Amino acid sequence: MTVKDEIKSLISKTTREKVEFIVETPEIRNYGDYATNIALVLAKKLKKDPIQIAEEIKFKLISFLKKGDIIEKIEIVKPGFINLFLKPDFLQKELKSILKQDNKFGSQDIGGNKNVIIDYSSPNVAKPMHVGHLRSTIIGQAIYNLYKFLGYKTIGDNHLGDWGTQFGIMIAGCKKYKPNISNLEKITTDEMLNIYVKFNREIGENPDLQEVAKQEFKKLEDGDRENREIWRILRRKSLEDFNKIYEILKIKFDFILGESFYEEHLKEEVQHALKKKVAVTNSDGSIIIPLDEFNLIPFLIQKSDGATLYGTRDLATIRERVKKFKPEKIVYVIGNEQAFYLQQFFRAAELLGYISYNKLFHIKFGLVLDENHKKLATREGRVVSAEELINKVIELAEKIIKEKNPKLPDKERERAAKIIGIGALKYNDLSQNRQTDIVFDWAKMLSFEGNSGPYLQYTYVRLASIIRKTKLTDFNPKFLKEEKEIGILKELIRFPEIVRETAENFQINNLANYLFKLANSMNSFYESLPVLKAEENIKSARLALIKAASIVLRNGLNLLGIETLDKM
Ligand code: ARG
Repeated sequence: MTVKDEIKSLISKTTREKVEFIVETPEIRNYGDYATNIALVLAKKLKKDPIQIAEEIKFKLISFLKKGDIIEKIEIVKPGFINLFLKPDFLQKELKSILKQDNKFGSQDIGGNKNVIIDYSSPNVAKPMHVGHLRSTIIGQAIYNLYKFLGYKTIGDNHLGDWGTQFGIMIAGCKKYKPNISNLEKITTDEMLNIYVKFNREIGENPDLQEVAKQEFKKLEDGDRENREIWRILRRKSLEDFNKIYEILKIKFDFILGESFYEEHLKEEVQHALKKKVAVTNSDGSIIIPLDEFNLIPFLIQKSDGATLYGTRDLATIRERVKKFKPEKIVYVIGNEQAFYLQQFFRAAELLGYISYNKLFHIKFGLVLDENHKKLATREGRVVSAEELINKVIELAEKIIKEKNPKLPDKERERAAKIIGIGALKYNDLSQNRQTDIVFDWAKMLSFEGNSGPYLQYTYVRLASIIRKTKLTDFNPKFLKEEKEIGILKELIRFPEIVRETAENFQINNLANYLFKLANSMNSFYESLPVLKAEENIKSARLALIKAASIVLRNGLNLLGIETLDKM
C-alpha cells in the first residue's frame, strides 16, 4: 500500500456513504502533504454545509489516529477542503524501509500476476526502422517495465509488419533487379528500400506492373517455393538489423511473431465475422464491419479482389492473444496517425466478442521534429532512420565526455558514451508529453544541466560518489530535522504512488518529471547543507537520505529503461 492508499482508506472510514472522492498531493506545501475533497462531495450529496462536514470528518480522523500514526495535523480550508500533514516521525521511519527495500522500492503487487500484453516497436520488414518505431520501442519498453514492477505478468510482442501486398512489390522487384537469389543473402535494408522505391516508380510508368506485383503476392500466399524463400530472406535480414538496434537500446520482447504468423487465420477470420453477422458483404464483393452505432465509418476486412488487410491481421492477432493469455489489458503503442484506425479495430474486436473495449488501450504519440520544428530529415531531405539517430546521439555523447574527462580510458569512455547517449535519447522521448510531437534539440537533450537524461545520470553519480567515500553506518533518522530534509523525505515516499499513477494513465512524463524534481532537490540539498563535514549523528542520517534518494533515482531511471553509471 502506498501512503496515499493508506490515507485514502483512513478517510473512507469516516463515512458510511459511498462516494467518489480524491486524495491529491498539492503543489504548494502549505496546503498539506495530501488533501481531499471528500467533504465537498458529501456536502453536495447530502445538501449540507461542506465546512461542517469537514469538521466532522476531521473529528473522526483524529479519533482514529492513535499514537505512532501517520498524520500530524489536519486543517480545513474554504470551501471545504481537508488538508493533511504527515508526521516527521512517520517519514523518518519510512527512510529505513526505503533502504531495506533497495531495488524493490516502488514495486507493488497490485497486478496479481494478471496478463498485460504490450504491442510495441513493430517496424516494417524490408524498410529501415524509422523514428516513429523508435518512439514506440522506447515508450513500449517503459510501459512494460512499469507494469512488471507493479506485479503484472507482462507479455511484450513485437508485431512486425511482415505480411501484405507490399511484399508483392518487393518480390517482383527482387526478381527484376536481383535475379540471383543466392545474392539476396547479402541484401541490406537500404537496398531493400531502394528496390521498393524503384519498382513503385516503374509501376507509375507502366501500370501493368501492378498486376505483376499482385500475382507475386498471390503466389506468396499460395506457398510458392521461390517466393516464400525470397520473403524469408528479406524478413531475416531485416530482423537482423532490427536486433542490432534492440541490442544497443537493451530492448526485450517475449515474442516477435509479426503479422505473417496469423496468415493462415485470415480467411477464417473473415468467415467468422460473416457467420457472427458482425460483417456484411458489399455489392462489389468487399466485406466490412459496419460501425454506425459508434459514429465510425465501416471497418474493411476484405477487399473486393479477395485480399485481406492490416486490420484483418490485427483481428486475427487479437483473437489468438485473448485465447492464449486472457489479458487484463492489451496496450498498443502506435503513433497518433493510426488513432482512427484503432478506434475502428477496437470496436470491431468488441463486436466480435473477443474482448471488451475498455481493456484495449491505444497509447499514441506524436512525430519527431528537429530544432526548427520540422520533420526530422537528413541533409538530402530523406527521413532519418532510427539507426542514424542512435549513432549520432552516441557520437555526440562521446565528444562531450572526452571534453569533460579527457583522461578516461577509451573502453570506459565508449561504454559511458553508450549509456549517456542512449539515456539522453530515451529521456528526451519519455519526459515530453507523448501525445504531442517531440523535438530533437541535440544540445538540450545532451546537456548536463536542465531536464535531460545526462543531468539525472550525473546527479546519480554525485550521490553515489558521496556514499562511496564513506561507510554507511547505523543511523538515527531523527537527526533529519531541516525543512529541506523533510521535504526530500516527503518526495521519496511518493515514489510508489508516482509509479502506479504513471502506469495507470500511461503518462510516462509524470515519472520523468518527478525524477527531475527530485534531482533538483538533491542538488540544492547538498549545496546548502554539509554532509561529510556535519556532526557524526547528522552526517550518518544525511548519508542515509542520500542513499535513499539514489535508490529512487536509479529505480526510476531503470523503469524508463535508462541505465545509471557509478562514475562519469
Ligand atoms: N507495422 C505497423 C506500422 O508500422 C505498426 C503495427 C502496430 N501494431 C499493431 N498491432 N497494429 O504502421
